[in-house]
Amino acid sequence: MRRKLAAGNWKMNGTPDSLAEIEALMRMQAAPGVEILICPPATLIAQAAARVGDHPIAIGGQDCHPKAQGAHTGDLSAAMLAAAGATHVILGHSERRADHGESDALVRAKAEAAHAAGLIAVICVGETLEEREDGRAEQVVTRQQAGSLPDGASAANTIVAYEPVWAIGTGKVPGTDDIGAIHGAMRAALAERFEDADEMRLLYGGSVKGSNAAEIFAVADVDGALVGGASLTAQDFSPIVAAL
Ligand code: G3H
Repeated sequence: MRRKLAAGNWKMNGTPDSLAEIEALMRMQAAPGVEILICPPATLIAQAAARVGDHPIAIGGQDCHPKAQGAHTGDLSAAMLAAAGATHVILGHSERRADHGESDALVRAKAEAAHAAGLIAVICVGETLEEREDGRAEQVVTRQQAGSLPDGASAANTIVAYEPVWAIGTGKVPGTDDIGAIHGAMRAALAERFEDADEMRLLYGGSVKGSNAAEIFAVADVDGALVGGASLTAQDFSPIVAAL
């Protein structure tokens, strides 16, 4: 049985005042078997982890460097994130692929570093609008997934998030049939490579809100969501958690 996951990616948003949103989520009673993950900016990871304490809400990073340490100004290693209290790290988000030219090979190396540090990697894949209109969405997503997941990936250390680039922050969401087709193709590809593919969690991300979460979560092979804008406040995020 795959545990459901509501993951919030705060992106480049949040100050110490924003930690009140995590405290509000802590007061919420999530259904049994539902996990919550919040990935604030790196500046807030330690404070967020301290506020969460023993509560089961998990805290994650949004990126890590593939190397363990060294002369990489401005970067953070996976072990640094873990030491700050993170248990997860988002890798290969389309904004990093676009803004920083991250390749599948780099994402894979980062995932290996995350695993070595004991972090769960949340690896993102997703097609652009042009690729979807060309009928290449499934091909692009499965190629990214194949290239970005290391051989050591397992249900215990890896989650894959399907985030169509054109759906991120736009209010546009693929049809549930489209989401189901991509998630089905992703899981079939995972099954060819990983023994525990049935246990690996697949998230959908891209304009998930309280108003559309339930229908997205009803799609086969959707095990939760990676949420951007609607994860910034407990008021917006809690209906998504409740829909799982
Ligand atoms: O990582 C989260 C995604 O990019 C989704 O962002 O919910 O604001 O569309 P969004």
